[in-house]
Amino acid sequence: MAGGRIPDSFIQDLLSRIDIVEVVGSRVELKRAGREYKGLSPFTNEKSPSFFVNPAKQMFFDFSSGKNGTAITFLMENDRLSFVEAVEELAKRAGVEVPREGGNEVSRLVLDGPLDALAVAEKFYRSQLKTHAPAIDYLKKRGLDGETAKIFNVGFAPESWDALTRLFPEADGQRQHALDAGLLIERDGGGGAYDRFRNRVMFPIRDTRGRTIGFGGRTLANDPAKYLNSPETPLFHKGRNLFGLFEAKQSTKTELPYLLVVEGYMDVVMLAQHGIRNAVATLGTATTREHLILLFKSTRRAVFCFDGDRAGRSAAWRALEQALPEVFDDRECRFMFLPDGHDPDSLVQEIGEAAFRALIDKAQPLSDFLLDELLKQVNLATREGRARLPGLARPHLEKLRDGGLRTLIVEEIARLTRLGRSDIETELAAKPKPVSATIPGNERPRTETPGSRPVKRALQLLLEQPGMALEVKHLRQLELLKQPGIEVLVEAIEFFAEAPEASAAQLIEAWRGTAKGSAVERVGRQPIDLDEIGIKAEFRDSIALLSRRALRERAQVLFDLASNRALSPAENREMEDIVWQLAGGDLS
Ligand code: UTP
Ligand code: MN
Repeated sequence: MAGGRIPDSFIQDLLSRIDIVEVVGSRVELKRAGREYKGLSPFTNEKSPSFFVNPAKQMFFDFSSGKNGTAITFLMENDRLSFVEAVEELAKRAGVEVPREGGNEVSRLVLDGPLDALAVAEKFYRSQLKTHAPAIDYLKKRGLDGETAKIFNVGFAPESWDALTRLFPEADGQRQHALDAGLLIERDGGGGAYDRFRNRVMFPIRDTRGRTIGFGGRTLANDPAKYLNSPETPLFHKGRNLFGLFEAKQSTKTELPYLLVVEGYMDVVMLAQHGIRNAVATLGTATTREHLILLFKSTRRAVFCFDGDRAGRSAAWRALEQALPEVFDDRECRFMFLPDGHDPDSLVQEIGEAAFRALIDKAQPLSDFLLDELLKQVNLATREGRARLPGLARPHLEKLRDGGLRTLIVEEIARLTRLGRSDIETELAAKPKPVSATIPGNERPRTETPGSRPVKRALQLLLEQPGMALEVKHLRQLELLKQPGIEVLVEAIEFFAEAPEASAAQLIEAWRGTAKGSAVERVGRQPIDLDEIGIKAEFRDSIALLSRRALRERAQVLFDLASNRALSPAENREMEDIVWQLAGGDLS
């Protein structure tokens, strides 16, 4: 089969359908051994078995050859297949076809049911738009033309409780698909279902393969919820999808020179109408790390477009924090701020394409925005102020990979503070000082194993029972922890929180070819001698331990700040919160 890349989502779906025990078992004789299966290594001539298959992790471990990995890796090694051939072989077993990105036909497989329901709904909403004058008038009044509406498949959900529901008869199982897709809502007490979207202009949200996975609906009435989005479903995650990405990719045959990230559906649509076809919108959420990862699969440059007011700048700052770990190699982020009272939709209508493009061209590079914001917090005219700058920059620079950009920022800080580069590097590398004795839980020096042991242990346990990711409540705090491997742990938790049914193998395939992927593979090798309850308890303990460390580190930063200046009300609140949590709050 020829064609483009195999979509990652397909590989994820595929791995969740097949069982590595069957795949390996058809080629190697396996015997049950506790929670695993055991056999003679197919890769060496060993006499006593040291080849294991773990059904929970969906991985194999061969201690005689040192090979390990997923079902895909196994086929690549054992059958000497390429990656693509191995995927095709597994797909054949699962009875599904391998889709390719950029193909014309919409492949239907795996999550077929809800996807079909979404396709039916999209068609229905589009047909409704044609026959509902108030909706057409509304869009006309907003300046939207028919051609653009067609590019985005804009539709209309009529003001009815069951117009869509009626299309999904309960009898043949279709109703359930529509419910699963978030299109309908079940009545309390099981008395049937009703339409989620009513009297709204409907914007389909498509995945990168062009399949509609959810909707955003704008009310025509004065509904307090101006926009209603599809709920999170196994198919649809707000933090992982971007409105307009598929359409942006469709607009060109070559790589997109950049993607413009805006806030609203109408912004994307109206920019496209004015010839700016490469805008995407987050779906009513702040920019996430996953958004960045997704963006950078299609382009090397992201330009974030925010309101110029304070809320806009703080949203931009949050986006910057997510972007720091993702800007490496030739990737680039820029930030543009709009004039007061405008969003991209209103602005492009007012000033037109050329002037809007000129604004995009003037967007601020990430490093400028970062330094600008940090400089607002110090007074460079004083030595004290200059001395604080490296410390303020530190948590951000730590998120950047080593490379040109980091070096250049350090140089700029050196210039601004008139400190030597090596002084700054020393400051950046400094370990946080031990926290003062007033912080509860830190009265006496602790004798925790230093280094990354609990990080590694937590990851190891998580791989056994990925569903535990849902129980981690303080991810943002963990993320702040300066410890080797913490990033891998946090991202693994995020991955499994979004897909609690996934196996370790799915994470490894999602990260194939990356350092993170090999780290997980290594950690996954170690078997764990605990039962389910033991795993849960130890995982909870290690997360609590790490959270406590993170909180203490953060407290130290606040303490240091407090010795230089008065803490802001927000910082004071944060401090109180930390003290409370360390004193016995729930840290799991
Ligand atoms: P805005 O409130 O800025 O609206 O929301 P807008 O996009 O300018 O809407 P129009 O121009 O009045 O139609 C920006 C984005 O925030 C999300 C939507 O994604 C919206 O496009 N949002 C907003 C919601 O999810 N729910 C809401 O109730 C409001
Ligand atoms: Mn608007």
